Amino acid sequence: MDSGVVISEVDPLDPANEPVLHAMWDVSAAARADRPFEVWAPWTTAYATWTTVRDDQDDVMWAATVDGVVVGMGWLVMSHMDNQHVATTELFVHPDHRRRGIGGSLLAAVVERSRAGGRTVLMTSPYSPVDRPGAGEAFLRAHGFEVGIAEMSRVCDLEESEPTWPALAERIAPDHADYRLEAWQDRIPEPFVEGYCQLGEAFNDEAPLGDLDLGAEVWSAERVADRDARFLATGRRQFGVLAYALDGTCVATTELFVNDVASWRALQGGTLVLPGHRGHRLGLALKLVNLRAVRERYPDCRHVFTVVAGVNAPMNAVNDVLGFRDVERALEMQLRL
Ligand SMILES: CC(C)(COP(=O)(O)OP(=O)(O)OC[C@H]1O[C@@H](n2cnc3c(N)ncnc32)[C@H](O)[C@@H]1OP(=O)(O)O)[C@@H](O)C(=O)NCCC(=O)NCCS
Repeated sequence: MDSGVVISEVDPLDPANEPVLHAMWDVSAAARADRPFEVWAPWTTAYATWTTVRDDQDDVMWAATVDGVVVGMGWLVMSHMDNQHVATTELFVHPDHRRRGIGGSLLAAVVERSRAGGRTVLMTSPYSPVDRPGAGEAFLRAHGFEVGIAEMSRVCDLEESEPTWPALAERIAPDHADYRLEAWQDRIPEPFVEGYCQLGEAFNDEAPLGDLDLGAEVWSAERVADRDARFLATGRRQFGVLAYALDGTCVATTELFVNDVASWRALQGGTLVLPGHRGHRLGLALKLVNLRAVRERYPDCRHVFTVVAGVNAPMNAVNDVLGFRDVERALEMQLRL
């Protein structure tokens, strides 16, 4: 245990804390420097996010300092919308200050606050090289976390993938001819909100979750509007496609996010095709429409990142066709509190 470490809660909404928050972000960046790609929010986005007042979740942040210098950070999120037994966290310690108990001290603060918030399970997602456990996974196992589901972070190089899209789209068009595809950007148009919410609520029942102690999410028009406004205000551009069956039911969704100040990459959000509508190549069709939209608006967008469970064979098959390759192991881990 590093006796010199001080763990202090930092209120992101206090403007006087901007310098310490910046130092915390810098530490988080140093802690990620050995990863193959930087997929976290850039500083300006992170600061805009941390300083956004939210009533749908509690955010708590801590700085770990040694001799007044920030060497670690912790971030705890507790949602009020659904899964109110769950807390999620991110922890970072600068590589020069590891194995001295600083991560453990930050985790102790996170655990205590999660319990005080009535949470019974703490979740986090460490990233490791594809072929061996990284520091985060080792640290979490040492603290009693267990794997809820094993996933893989995968990347697609759009410059290589794009030339294949026209032939792919033509080949699968007859398979999904009975469905209407509706693309949207930034804000979900009002006529699509209801279907989008239904799929959002079905998601956790339909996607593989392994042993993760997660229940269904709760979605409403108000939650969608809040999320869309927050993303616009923090420079995150949303790209989505929905599929409707002939009877007007919304049966499939996919979404991607591009950050205005890091538009070289897009991050894949959820993709879901309801069970009765699988086998019509909707997953691939939706993704092709969405990828095209991203390239039209952000021609410099080169890479798309996704995180998919190893056991999710249909999603991995779609991504294989698009040229995704494995870059990191991404475990979803949880600790009973
Ligand atoms: C994970 C992380 C926060 C740990 O910070 P830390 O200050 O080094 O952690 P601690 O010193 O408290 O480690 C406590 C115990 O965890 C285990 N541990 C931590 N890092 C380890 C590693 N690289 N290899 C094996 N075990 C490790 C050990 O049992 C260690 O005790 P020991 O040093 O007495 O053997 C830090 O490595 C990091 O920032 N990693 C990148 C971000 C990340 O993966 N975060 C976790 C998921 S949110």
